[in-house]
Amino acid sequence: MKLTRKVTALAMASMMVFSMAACGGDSAPETTTAAASTEAKADAATDAATEAAKETAAQAEASGGAGGNIGVCIYKFDDAFMTTYRNALQEILEGKGYTVTFMDGKNDQAEQNNQINNFIAQGVDALIINPVMTSAADQIIATVKDADIPTVLINREPTADQMSAYEKLVYVGCDARQSGTMQGELILDTANKGDINGDGKVSYIMIQGDPENVDAQYRTEFSVKALTDAGMEVEELDLQRGDWDRNKGQEIAQNDLAKFGNDIEVIFCNNDDMAIGALQAIQAAGRKVNEDIYLVGVDALDAALNEVVNGNMTGTVLNDANGQAQGAVDAMEALLGGKTYAAGEQSIYVDYVKVTPENAADFQ
Ligand code: BGC
Repeated sequence: MKLTRKVTALAMASMMVFSMAACGGDSAPETTTAAASTEAKADAATDAATEAAKETAAQAEASGGAGGNIGVCIYKFDDAFMTTYRNALQEILEGKGYTVTFMDGKNDQAEQNNQINNFIAQGVDALIINPVMTSAADQIIATVKDADIPTVLINREPTADQMSAYEKLVYVGCDARQSGTMQGELILDTANKGDINGDGKVSYIMIQGDPENVDAQYRTEFSVKALTDAGMEVEELDLQRGDWDRNKGQEIAQNDLAKFGNDIEVIFCNNDDMAIGALQAIQAAGRKVNEDIYLVGVDALDAALNEVVNGNMTGTVLNDANGQAQGAVDAMEALLGGKTYAAGEQSIYVDYVKVTPENAADFQ
């Protein structure tokens, strides 16, 4: 994805202030202008000009330029899907003239809490937060409410009840049940509906994301439910958490292929990165996707789209990073414009799309 980088001098200055704060600096942001340093020596006329310049700089700093200052907290930068999402957010926000600062939560909720507090101390106009843990949502929501900062939560959905605590808060994401159902449908669409050995049941392993995340819970449940709803018998050979991570996906698949061998007919992965890892194990074990085993993921990462086209993955499901990033920015602007959200109406969903070799090129 092409990034548009529009960083003004002012933006650079604010970003430096932000990163100082993020590194533990506790002093209030200070902006030293050339005009301010010459003020003492100036005569009356220059004084007036200096004052005007200072006022303009202060106003500009307060509003972050044309678009305002936006703080974005990502649960961890080292996540394949969230990298795509982050790039999309950056392109959209900077393209609109916002000054945007991204913070890496490093998968540590305490670290992210500090980052949120620093953003608030710096007076950001709005926050976009991808929580590290949805179980921390109550605390995050209480913090942003207390500071009266319009906030968009992304990617990790809290409950409607948790969100109802603050009317200037909205969640933008997808309904993870839909992606699970689509994964099941991808298997049902194969010639033998996943029952490669014809023993009357679909034997699978499930490589789960971080089970604290509702995406992992729902994808696990609804992928299998699609099969049983269609009247298929299923057999779960193994279910293990791979924490959305490629290496863990590879390790789990490798161990299970050694243990269960040809009994495994389907490998469900809650995301593409783990599916790419599982594919490495499948190939190392001398198995062939779509011939003696099926493999599905979620996200439609570029690497996975290539494997779908090459026949090395049965399919994936588009987790629309661009659509969600656009939705998050739209919701943020609505909040900045004064919109509030009633309880029960605080989740905005973008649709998933089933990806097969037939339509994969549309997303590449
Ligand atoms: C994506 C995963 C990602 C996770 C992060 C999910 O929606 O499918 O790839 O790791 O979000 O929370």
